[in-house]
Order: sequence, then C-alpha cells, then structure tokens
Amino acid sequence: MPIGDKVLSNFRQQKEEEKVYAAQKIKVGIIGTGWIAEEHVESYLRQPDVEIVALADLVEGKASKFAKHYGLTGARLYPNHKAMLESEALDAVSVCTYNVTHAECAIEALNAGVHVLLEKPMCVTLDEAIAMMRAEKKSGKILSVGFQPRMDENMGMIKKIVESGTLGEVYYIQTGGGRRRGIPSSTFIEKKTAGIGALGDIGCYSLDMVLNAIGYPKPLTVTGYTSSFFGTSPEYQEPEDASRFDVDDFAAAFIRLEGGIVLDFRIAWAMHVDTPGDTIILGKKAALRIPSTECWNGTIGGPMKLYTDVAGEQVETIIPAIESKGPGLFDRKIRSFLDAIITGGAAPVPTSQIVYNQAILEGIARSAALGREVEITVPEV
Ligand SMILES: NC(=O)c1ccc[n+]([C@@H]2O[C@H](COP(=O)([O-])OP(=O)(O)OC[C@H]3O[C@@H](n4cnc5c(N)ncnc54)[C@H](O)[C@@H]3O)[C@@H](O)[C@H]2O)c1
Repeated sequence: MPIGDKVLSNFRQQKEEEKVYAAQKIKVGIIGTGWIAEEHVESYLRQPDVEIVALADLVEGKASKFAKHYGLTGARLYPNHKAMLESEALDAVSVCTYNVTHAECAIEALNAGVHVLLEKPMCVTLDEAIAMMRAEKKSGKILSVGFQPRMDENMGMIKKIVESGTLGEVYYIQTGGGRRRGIPSSTFIEKKTAGIGALGDIGCYSLDMVLNAIGYPKPLTVTGYTSSFFGTSPEYQEPEDASRFDVDDFAAAFIRLEGGIVLDFRIAWAMHVDTPGDTIILGKKAALRIPSTECWNGTIGGPMKLYTDVAGEQVETIIPAIESKGPGLFDRKIRSFLDAIITGGAAPVPTSQIVYNQAILEGIARSAALGREVEITVPEV
C-alpha cells in the first residue's frame, strides 16, 4: 500500500477507534477489592475514558491498601456496597465480590441506576438470578456477566462452526474441564462465601462454551452428582482448608436441553486423572472435537478436529488453533462492557442466556442432594 494511503488508513482507523470512547469519563466503582478486582482495575486503567472513583470492601483496610497499590488516591473508600451506592453518583460498577453477595450487590446497583459488570458465576441460586433479571429490566441498565473466554477467537470459531450448519442438527455434547490438583483456597471453599465450589468456579465456563455455541437452548431436566473427597481430605489439602471445606470439588451431570439435545458434563478441581476428556459436539452431519480446554481462560489444548463424510469417505479436517492478537481477554471484557454503555447497546454477555447456565448449576446441586433427576423451570422475566 502506498505510504499516503497507509497514513490515511491508520488515521481513519484511529478515528474509528476514538469514536467508541465516551465524551466524558465513565465513573466506575469497584465492589470487592480482592483478587479478581486487580484484573478489573488493571484493565480499567488501560481505558482512556474511565475514572475509578470509589472502592468498597467488607474487610477493614482492604480497599485502602488496594487504592494505595494502584495509585487510586482520588478514589473514595467504603465499608460495603450499600454505603458506596448511597453516596456516589456512579455510571457503572464492577461486582468483584465472592459468589454469595453477587445478587445483592448487582440488584442494589441496578436499583441505584448503575450499569453492572458482574463476575462469574452469575450468582448461587436460580431465584437470585431471576431477581437480578427483574432488577435489570426495571432499571433499563446493563447487567453483563463476566465470561471473558467468550471474547476468545477459538471460542468464537466453535460457535461459527455450529452456526454454519457444518455439523447439521446437534444432538449430543460431551464437555467439562478440570485438573488433577488445583483446589483454590480463600473464599472459594466455603458455602458461606462461595455457595458452590468447582461447579460455580469453573463449571460455569465449560457450560458457557458449548451452550453459547448452540444458542443457549432451555435446560429441561438434570441428573447431577457432586463430591468433595479431595477438598475435605488433609491428605490433599492444607489441614486448615480441609476442615472448613464444605463445597463440591467434583461434579458430573446429564442434562436434557430443549431441541432433543443432551449434555454430558464433568468438572473437577481435583481428581486422579489429568483431564476429564475432550469436548465433543455430535451433529447429524459431522462432529467436532475440541481438545481438553482451559475453559476458564479461553484457551484450547490444540487444534480442533472436524469429522465428516465426503463422497462416502470418512474424513477428518484439522482446524488450527487461532493465536489471539490484540488486547487480552480481560481488556476485551471490560471494553465491551464500556462500549455497550456508551452506545446504549446490549450487554455483551446477557443474563437472558446466563440464567440457563445458572439454572443448570443449581439443578446439578439440587439433583445431587436429592439423589435423583430434577426438572428445571426458569420463569419468564
Ligand atoms: N473472571 C475470572 O477469571 C475470575 C477469576 C477469579 C475469580 N473470579 C470471580 O470473582 C469473584 C471474586 O473472587 P476473588 O478471588 O476476587 O475473591 P476474594 O475473596 O479475593 O475477593 C472478594 C472480596 O469481596 C468483598 N466483598 C464481599 N461482599 C462485599 C460487599 N457486599 N461489599 C463490598 N465488598 C464485598 C470481600 O470482602 C472480599 O475482599 C468470585 O465470584 C469469582 O468466581 C473470576
């Protein structure tokens, strides 16, 4: 391309990019200043049109230490989300609290007329999810759930393959993820803060990868199983953590979805094998194998493979893994949320989909406790 054209094209691209930035800085508050809040703040600080004006945390001194670390000297500090929402005129909040307070923080922020970027999982129970959707609808504000793997090109490719019709009608999916040893600590391992264990921490990602690809059909029934053999054992866990561990560290389920699709799912924080297997999507015309994924960060374990018949011959096509270019997934998650606020667009990861993800998580826990299959009913909002 001649130099003049290149300069012009760069200028146009720059102008195009500038267009999505807000004319005035978007005032953001951070609720919960723990581990994941660091990622949110680092990404917000890379955006030219954001000002972090307030931080809240229940633990005394935590928000102030966090503010100092990130040089957020102008940010006002609060002992909880309520105090922040009462005192501040915010445009948006990131809810970075542990799972059991997701619902109350999101609902109260929406009621205060504030857009919400919520960490995953959406919440703990289906009732909470419905209450959040009602608050979202009433407020007219955005509630987006922070599934950053959605922004990954490979995850996008899985969806494109399904939507292209290459697989034909999908009727069976096997998915999940996990690790041989990898139980988190801190607030992840107790019901009083996390509500659910591996299911909520990483299970929600595996479910989102495949459900998003097939258009989030309604879940109908689930037979679920959960266990906690590793988390509760001082043989595999620090004794102090083992004694307070009361969530799942492994879950498996057989889920029936609308459209005659079944979903066979497993997730593990710990087990005596390195992976519960590849993801397989079976369609009537072809099948897709996605090598065992690090579903929580969007990476896939190698090239995907498409199995189909061509002129009566069984063939396999390699679909190379796409190397991600440009901003990281967290920056894309934050930017897409900001862009939706500026343009009045839809939530990048909408609750209308994630409510089904939540219904499945809750269904698995409920079925496991009852020891039988349960029906899933998601009320209309
Ligand atoms: N997207 C990702 O990649 C990713 C990674 C890790 C964690 N997470 C999610 O992020 C959330 C937080 O995880 P974490 O590791 O940062 O936990 P954490 O325990 O380190 O931090 C949570 C903080 O929230 C505070 N908090 C709770 N309720 C509050 C309230 N009402 N008002 C103000 N502060 C409140 C707690 O005091 C705590 O400091 C979890 O839901 C988790 O699933 C997401």
